Amino acid sequence: MDFVNIVPKPIRCSINTPDKYANIENIEKQIDKKFDTSGSYDMFLYADKTVIAAADERGFFYAQQSLRQLKAVYGDQIPCFSISDAPRYQHRGVMLDSVRHMQSIEEIKKFIEAAALFKFNVFHWHLSDDQGFRFESEVFPELTKESSVRPSSDFGKVHDSTPYGGYYTKAQIKEIINFCHERFMTVIPEFDLPGHMSAVLHAKPELSCKRESVAIKTTAGIFPDILCAGKEEVFDFLFKLFDEVCEVFPDEYIHIGGDEAPKKYWKTCPHCQKRKAELGFTDEEQLQGYMTTRIAEYLATKGRKVICWNETLASDILPEGLIIQNWMDKKKKCPSFANNGGKLIYSDYYHYYTDYPYTMTPVSKTYNADPVIAGQRKKENTIGVEAPIWTEHVRDFDRLCYMTWPRFAAVSETGWSKAENKNYKDFKKRITALLPLLEEICIKAAAPQDWDPNPVSRLFGTASFFTGTVNKEMIVNFFKGNNN
Ligand code: ACM
Ligand code: ZN
Repeated sequence: MDFVNIVPKPIRCSINTPDKYANIENIEKQIDKKFDTSGSYDMFLYADKTVIAAADERGFFYAQQSLRQLKAVYGDQIPCFSISDAPRYQHRGVMLDSVRHMQSIEEIKKFIEAAALFKFNVFHWHLSDDQGFRFESEVFPELTKESSVRPSSDFGKVHDSTPYGGYYTKAQIKEIINFCHERFMTVIPEFDLPGHMSAVLHAKPELSCKRESVAIKTTAGIFPDILCAGKEEVFDFLFKLFDEVCEVFPDEYIHIGGDEAPKKYWKTCPHCQKRKAELGFTDEEQLQGYMTTRIAEYLATKGRKVICWNETLASDILPEGLIIQNWMDKKKKCPSFANNGGKLIYSDYYHYYTDYPYTMTPVSKTYNADPVIAGQRKKENTIGVEAPIWTEHVRDFDRLCYMTWPRFAAVSETGWSKAENKNYKDFKKRITALLPLLEEICIKAAAPQDWDPNPVSRLFGTASFFTGTVNKEMIVNFFKGNNN
């Protein structure tokens, strides 16, 4: 392949007329049904015009993103390339945590615009967690009023005693959804349950096992108050909430979390234990599987499908067609899930969590991660990749951009390009040339000298991240047994 400065790297590229530069203003689009609808395209750059062939507008859109990059790198001296291109994976996502810290609508649009430029097609929006509830609910106004504001923020060494909060109105959410759709990205909202529900339980303690008041959380961590799996009113609440969510979010998938849900209170709650006995369950994980299944079946009646984090696989009761997002498979359930036909999204925390410092997760480590996991024979059951940015320690947009770029670009190449075409040194050259284009859309990526720190910096950086993010409350929680 001749060198073409595009990220993610196309399948094939050659130069057709070496002595001429391309005209990319005069574009001819050809619909050609020999292409599939995943976004594949061919593009021929000539001295007098550019011809793009694709099955539909998605393919044209991806070709335009390639052109935008070519223009940024080569100016008005773009070689006459011929490019054949197609995605490797169907799911290429970025996840934004707007709970721990929020971003403005304009910032979220920048985040999405940059992702689309690198051919991501999923915006996963984390909207509910222990520290806040960010979806404007008219059905449950108490969530919007009481669950959206925490009294202070105590993340690691940073203590801020001012109340922090807010929510996104339905009009704002629709604006973001439209912005994504214009860029061929679908939007997957996440309402994490049954754990990570302290903010909701703060407004609605009757949905917990104990019915006692629950504080909205000001620290990072895993907390023991979770939704009760025994009470019918919990399901009534969830179905009404998801009715409202589905009215606002039109795309097929809803993420319902499922991670880090300690079963401490389920073990002694009479409602949970009654449900467990009636259903003949032998452990509390099956109760979570039952909850997941009921919600998935309810959402299926509305034509929706669910995605859950991998802890959900601790239960042997699971809904049909569940997609698992694999972030930390401690119990090694993901390989057999995939080998039995289950679909996986690769989001391994060790490689893809972009809130970790570069000293812990250098760009090369993110880039070289293999989305097919050890023990997974059915490689085709990895349906894609997704890189999250959690924001406990990411308080502003500049920091968010620094943490995510260029690691998002590294993930985009794994999600899009053929594995055999990948090469980190070559990627580094291409993405470096694209940094000014990212800056043009207000994304200030980390500088190249920060991407792959030396071993000594890695050691000290990793240690200082952990000492800086752990605080007294987290240690107390840990020793109280509130972790699962
Ligand atoms: C997660 O990081 N708890 C999904
Ligand atoms: Zn209960």
